[in-house]
Amino acid sequence: MSKYIRAKITENTPVNKGHNLLILSPDDIPQRSLPGQFYMIGTDFSYDPLLKRPFSIFRETSSGEGRELQFLYRIKGKGTKLLKEMRKGETVNVLGPLGNGYPMPDKNLTPVLIAGGIGIASLFPLAEKLSWSVHFFYGARTSDELLMLNKLKGLVKKELIISTDDGSEGTKGTVIDILDNFFTRHSSLVTRHLLYSCGPSPMLEAVSKFAAEKGIKGYISMEENMACGVGACLGCTVKTKKGYKRVCKEGPVFPIEEIVW
Ligand SMILES: Cc1cc2nc3c(=O)[nH]c(=O)nc-3n(C[C@H](O)[C@H](O)[C@H](O)COP(=O)(O)OP(=O)(O)OC[C@H]3O[C@@H](n4cnc5c(N)ncnc54)[C@H](O)[C@@H]3O)c2cc1C
Ligand code: FES
Repeated sequence: MSKYIRAKITENTPVNKGHNLLILSPDDIPQRSLPGQFYMIGTDFSYDPLLKRPFSIFRETSSGEGRELQFLYRIKGKGTKLLKEMRKGETVNVLGPLGNGYPMPDKNLTPVLIAGGIGIASLFPLAEKLSWSVHFFYGARTSDELLMLNKLKGLVKKELIISTDDGSEGTKGTVIDILDNFFTRHSSLVTRHLLYSCGPSPMLEAVSKFAAEKGIKGYISMEENMACGVGACLGCTVKTKKGYKRVCKEGPVFPIEEIVW
């Protein structure tokens, strides 16, 4: 059974009004993560298991001083508001890497990554790994909510296509609009692409329906509320075509056609 380890905060700074970048230096060297895996993070001063929260690994770096784990998080409710108040030098408890991560694409398929809002945290390491070959679609409500855009621009060597609901950056509309436009332009190559998507549930549902209509394969990463993070409490189950599955254990990444919406 995995155990929580302590990790020192080396940075916990705002990247915009509602989001922070958290950089941790763990006491023990954890196993190296795969893109799409996550950690449970809990504040050190609280033993309340309800205050452990799942966060995707945004980046993982090594230096002479050890391993650093980076997380991008949206300040949403009780847990993330507490986390936001923590300062450099304080410690948190972390458990991970957890979950399955994104399967790598076959060589003959072009990966198309689709992030909505904070879903960028999960897809960024995949973009880093496949940077030469990915098309990246990134949607948010407004330009202020597009996180790490400059880093992404430096990373993605094919197309980076942006949409915002209010048109303050990129195309005005949803990520489905820009996706539809792309596949209209590449209609003869539809089955040569593989989708990877992470974002809010309504967006994932729309991406899944779009993929089903066009006959495109792919994967989505589900963001369900979690309590234990290790498959024990059944608190994170989702309905799939192969029965109920635990997002923390069998997921968070599922084949796009598998989730029952
Ligand atoms: C695999 C995965 C990866 C994720 N990656 C990221 C990421 O990289 N960045 C990011 O910003 N977000 C990520 N999320 C979402 C993130 O985990 C949530 O935004 C976070 O848990 C919100 O916590 P909160 O306490 O601030 O919000 P809250 O809404 O207060 O709490 C979140 C949930 O915890 C439960 N909860 C809270 N208090 C209680 C209570 N007293 N009793 C029972 N249940 C309670 C509830 O079910 C509640 O909906 C990810 C989620 C998953 C599943
Ligand atoms: S969070 Fe407990 S089983 Fe997934």
